Amino acid sequence: MKKPLGILITVLVVAFIVFAGCKKKNPDVNEPSAKTKWTIGMSQCNLGEPWRVQMNADIKSAADKHPEIKVIFKDAQNDTLRQRSQMEEFISAGVNLIIISPKEAAPLTPVVAQAYQKGIPVIVLDRRVLGDQYTCFIGADNKKIGKAAGKWIVTKLGGKGKIVELMGLMTSTPGQDRHTGFREGIKDSGVEIIFEADMKWLEPDARKEMESALARFAKIDLVYAHNDPGAHGAYLAAQAAAREKDIIFVGIDALPQEGQAYVKQGIMQASFEYPTGGKEAIELGLDILSGKKVEKEVTLASRVFTKENIDTGGEWLKD
Ligand code: FRU
Repeated sequence: MKKPLGILITVLVVAFIVFAGCKKKNPDVNEPSAKTKWTIGMSQCNLGEPWRVQMNADIKSAADKHPEIKVIFKDAQNDTLRQRSQMEEFISAGVNLIIISPKEAAPLTPVVAQAYQKGIPVIVLDRRVLGDQYTCFIGADNKKIGKAAGKWIVTKLGGKGKIVELMGLMTSTPGQDRHTGFREGIKDSGVEIIFEADMKWLEPDARKEMESALARFAKIDLVYAHNDPGAHGAYLAAQAAAREKDIIFVGIDALPQEGQAYVKQGIMQASFEYPTGGKEAIELGLDILSGKKVEKEVTLASRVFTKENIDTGGEWLKD
């Protein structure tokens, strides 16, 4: 027979499990409350990369401070058509405001314009759409980041060297801008691009492209990848070929748990920060919802992290 203490413990454990189960929150919605006044739809292009998980977390923690708003998150799983129909769902549900981080510019422009013309304010976050049919764009300056990366690389290589450029999805504006900015940064130097490929922001694609580059070129001095997953994928390919020590890896995003950690570990030599803008999107969203006038364009600042400056918080990019 069980002792009374044993029974008591069993009862407490069962009660705890039942209670914890009831308290379980839906991760797709921030806490709605009796005070909820506005519903915000958040259309995320994918949640396959740590940076986007961070963006949603930044949005959620900013929104949790405001009981007057409820955010509904939708994940398009890197599928433009799915993102378009999720936007249509937000429009027909009549949400009060939409935040969208679009996968690609051109194909998502019409649905953003449709929401905007119907009177739903739209904040476009990180990747742009075309034209001006949206309320506000928030993001860091990708051309400036690309140019700073180019200049940093020229200095690091002493003015010349052979480079692999692994580009982000070239139908998205950060990919285009990180490319043109970079070309401007290395202009008039002896730095030469010997291989370039679109790795679509994806680590496995970057790894595959780097395998081709390694097979074709006996000497590669540096890899410039448009994001840190890309730089890491390239590093893994080089490591598999026992060539990682001969190559410098540079990326963009600089999440503390990703790019900054790679810099600390010596896997990457530099990572340029690309802030998610999640907190700013909620703050601006609240301004819009309460009738304040906001700027059409909000540019976020970025830093570069290297071995030399990482312990002191990186260095802000200058104009
Ligand atoms: C995540 C990501 C980031 C990158 C951003 C550009 O999907 O690829 O790594 O900085 O998108 O939009």
